[in-house]
Amino acid sequence: IALVLAACGGGGGAKSSDDYTKENPLVIKFSHVTAIDSVKGKSADYFAKLVDEKTEGRVKVEVYPSSQLYGDADELDALMSGNVHMIAPSVTKMVKLDPRWQYVDMPFLFQDAEHVQAFFDSEVAQSLFNADALASNDIMGKAFWPNGFKNFSSNKNPLVKPEDFAGQKFRAQAGKVLEAQFKALNAGSATISFGETYAALQQGTVDGTENPHNNFDTMKFYEVQKYYSTSAHGRLDYAIFVNKSFWESMPEDLGKLVDEALAEATTYAQGLAADENAKSLEKIKSVGSVEVYEMSQEERDVLKEAMQPVYDEFADVITKELLDGIEALKK
Ligand code: LMR
Repeated sequence: IALVLAACGGGGGAKSSDDYTKENPLVIKFSHVTAIDSVKGKSADYFAKLVDEKTEGRVKVEVYPSSQLYGDADELDALMSGNVHMIAPSVTKMVKLDPRWQYVDMPFLFQDAEHVQAFFDSEVAQSLFNADALASNDIMGKAFWPNGFKNFSSNKNPLVKPEDFAGQKFRAQAGKVLEAQFKALNAGSATISFGETYAALQQGTVDGTENPHNNFDTMKFYEVQKYYSTSAHGRLDYAIFVNKSFWESMPEDLGKLVDEALAEATTYAQGLAADENAKSLEKIKSVGSVEVYEMSQEERDVLKEAMQPVYDEFADVITKELLDGIEALKK
């Protein structure tokens, strides 16, 4: 009888829904690297609030923002080992497991926010979640959350034409595609974690960086950068990844409410990103410490041409299926 019980999970200490109360909740640890008031920070907190409401406090999402628990280098490992249960990395940081996630860095791939949303809702996006590389590392992809288009900044000179980048060194998030992007502009790059980027810019370890307006604003990078150009040359977007064993071990009724909350938080995040980025650009323009150059479409086209080598080198890595799939979603 003992054996049968064990096989049914009865001997494994698995808890049932009734074991969780407001006083003794099921805890979901959610770690991320951006500020509380960033697009991701607000969406994560909204998710936590929805879970609290829907489960009447029986599930508690503990959100750890600003790399306070884990930074770029270790949050994925922490997820795989179950030390946290949920992360929302900028998708390019998944390059360690699957290089196709660098689709997001391909220069000028997405036309506008609607194109990005059409991709999130597509089968091609889902196919990234279905990869063996996730399941075999005990990870499940649950949702896409947008941030925005990235823009170049520097301390040396305004960045408009390809030659303006020559000889400068830029902070990059991760991966070979971003390295190749800067190389195409005759510039160097270094992978530096998000939490260390402010200091790297302040101390001159790197001259410049690339960010959506909202990250540049909420990390106060305008304090340590002199020039900002609205290049919108690439995207920075997130996906929600959870620890698979943990997620599947949640009692079914509670898991269903958490999934509902995640779906609603995803709609919230998808509605928030464009507005928050627009507001942040106004703020960056008004602070006075950084000179903002608003690029024209013609100027962007010249940068796009200069970055073509990135496609020559990486189209096969990202795969034709993914690149053509994204292209086909353009309106
Ligand atoms: C970065 O490292 O620049 C971003 O990935 C940070 C973030 O999560 O938005």
